Amino acid sequence: EYIKAFAPATVANVACGFDIFGFAVDEPGDVVELRRRDEPGIVITDITGDGGRLPRQADRNAVTVVMLRLLEKLGRSDLGCEVVLHKNMPLGSGMGSSAASAVAGVFAINELLGQPLSREELLPFAIEGERIACGSAHADNVGPALLGGFVVIRSYQPLDVFRVPVPASLHCTLVSPDIEVNTKDARYILRNEVSLKNAISQMGNVAGLITGLMKEDFGLISRSMVDVIIEPVRAILIPEFNEVKQAALESGALGCSISGAGPSMFALSRSRADAERVGQAMQETFAQAGITGVVHVSGI
Ligand code: HSE
Repeated sequence: EYIKAFAPATVANVACGFDIFGFAVDEPGDVVELRRRDEPGIVITDITGDGGRLPRQADRNAVTVVMLRLLEKLGRSDLGCEVVLHKNMPLGSGMGSSAASAVAGVFAINELLGQPLSREELLPFAIEGERIACGSAHADNVGPALLGGFVVIRSYQPLDVFRVPVPASLHCTLVSPDIEVNTKDARYILRNEVSLKNAISQMGNVAGLITGLMKEDFGLISRSMVDVIIEPVRAILIPEFNEVKQAALESGALGCSISGAGPSMFALSRSRADAERVGQAMQETFAQAGITGVVHVSGI
């Protein structure tokens, strides 16, 4: 038996929704291949695209640890399989790299077992993968990687996750500069307190972004893509952040911010053509500072 599963990159936070908003893009994404073997237990036979950085032992790699937990939960620890992981995006890029791997892993093993669990039931296992990979159990990458589209994590305890429709023509530009930001570090530098003034601004934008998406009101989406809490602190981790953001807005983006914990930056646009033009402007601005940025344009 053989299963091949793909899980996409995701943009977490989406400006104002730290830890509560995320959406999936079409590509890039990670791929997990599973092959049944006669002996029980999970073994990693190969990992490509990680430059040898991820652990090869099944009990140390987040992807296989979550598979092992799932098998244990289902009383199927007798199952034997070989795992190949293809990393198609850089680690620490802010594109939900660890989430894509964990989601592809739990999805693949669930398929191999004949789908005993729904996608919603797989979510807690994928979240556990995030805890192992970067020390925090946020769901704004694994949620959209598993469910697709734009996802809201209304509550973590209990977990309450739902999808929000978006305008059909809405496109995302994702630009990944060739620098690395560790998610743990990018969370560590955040302040624990928020002023009432900033909380009010952020709540207004959260409400505005969701309403704008649902009503297909691009003006409202644009006005709401503002983050007064996280972005001002994290922007210092990304060289040329302000210049790249300005270039995106000047070339017609609805809004632009940090993708997840960064250093990738994303912009939303009202059409693919706009998103492509925005990508070019962002890439050129990074290039002026000697930074190479890889651009992905995708529907949502
Ligand atoms: N919400 C998380 C953060 C996403 O911003 O730290 C990490 O990809």
